[in-house]
Amino acid sequence: MHIVHIAVEMAPIAKVGGLGDVVTSLSRAVQDLGHKVEVILPKYDCLNLSSVKDLYYQQSFTWGGTEIKVWFGKVEDLPVYFLEPQNGMFWVGCVYGRNDESRFGFFCHSALEFLLQKGSSPDIIHCHDWSSAPVAWLYKEQYALNGLGNGRVVFTIHNLEFGAHHIGKAMAHCDKATTVSDTYSKEVAGHGAIAPHYYKFYGIRNGIDPDIWDPYTDNFIPVHYTSENVVEGKSAAKKALQQMLGLQQIDTPVVGIITRLTVQKGIHLIKHAMYRALERNGQVVLLGSAPDPRIQGDFTNLASKLHGEYHGRVKLCLTYDEPLSHLIYAGADFILVPSIFEPCGLTQLIAMRYGSIPIVRKTGGLYDTVFDVDNDKDRAQAQGLEPNGFSFEGADSSGVDYALDRQV
Ligand code: ADP
Ligand code: GLC
Repeated sequence: MHIVHIAVEMAPIAKVGGLGDVVTSLSRAVQDLGHKVEVILPKYDCLNLSSVKDLYYQQSFTWGGTEIKVWFGKVEDLPVYFLEPQNGMFWVGCVYGRNDESRFGFFCHSALEFLLQKGSSPDIIHCHDWSSAPVAWLYKEQYALNGLGNGRVVFTIHNLEFGAHHIGKAMAHCDKATTVSDTYSKEVAGHGAIAPHYYKFYGIRNGIDPDIWDPYTDNFIPVHYTSENVVEGKSAAKKALQQMLGLQQIDTPVVGIITRLTVQKGIHLIKHAMYRALERNGQVVLLGSAPDPRIQGDFTNLASKLHGEYHGRVKLCLTYDEPLSHLIYAGADFILVPSIFEPCGLTQLIAMRYGSIPIVRKTGGLYDTVFDVDNDKDRAQAQGLEPNGFSFEGADSSGVDYALDRQV
């Protein structure tokens, strides 16, 4: 089959969060099954071009009175078309910014126009979240009729929190809709954007790409490891992490948190858990950035307070830092994910790949992937799995304490 993803994020060249990871990992997994997979992405000015192989200018076309340059290159072995409208809408800022609705609307339209003018007729056009949702209705209402073949549209909801109006409209037009875990598909079943279309809605849990997230080949950690030398690999990573962040070089449990700092991610529980782990003599490393300047400011204040009170035992890095995230996954003992809701969540999966133990709140994909060592033996066994972490219910501090106190 010929499958084209139209998306606004793609790891590692234009990644803000898990959407970027999944566009790459899903495409690679399907390509590995023998299908022809292509990705269409805006050509942002901020693209990390060092990860694009053999990039070259391919052609131009005009849509809506604007010339659009098309570039082609390979990202993680995937063919990617980059669209660069000459009106400059992707020349400023990074993935998300101002006027996203009109910028991404223009992008979706021009992506379909590009496929039409190229004479391409994919079997499946796959769009993601509100940002490429317009593909679903533009394809069905205009392009399929205009000669872009008789393809099917798959629409994946990674997060229903944003752009519910667009999501509802795409749901009406797509052939199949998916979301990124079974439990989240049930949690949102009654949502106005989903309920009328539930018959074509499926929860298919995300995975991570084991070649991209691999402690045996990871260039950002000091000693490569597999399950054979996990103790050696992780203790070298822990030392390197402690040294890099100015933490005491002691053998105490390190709790890592890698997250967008938004209400979704359980900010109040994160704060509480940091204090709790520190009071119990653990160390805490938080890597996170907040799209909301008020939350960023709040954490900046918290950082100076904690760095003073618990000097050498806690570090808050309030930024986006891909290499540091790898070192934390490898060097931490625990990765905490206390989300209020979580469609799937990737950080708990990456943690497990690096031999760190997840501590999560039981919601969405966190519920589906983490099985508490004391409470979920039967649920794990029913799926042929072993318990693999710690989890808690509720959204107050007692739940986090219960999960944390058993180990830290
Ligand atoms: P979401 O997409 O809701 O942010 P996910 O758990 O699905 O959450 O994916 C988050 C992805 O972004 C993971 O790959 C994680 O490592 C990465 N990430 C999150 N915050 C940061 C950060 N501050 N620095 C580096 N990587 C981050
Ligand atoms: C979203 C969700 C997250 C999910 C990711 C990839 O950003 O918040 O739970 O893992 O998309 O699907």
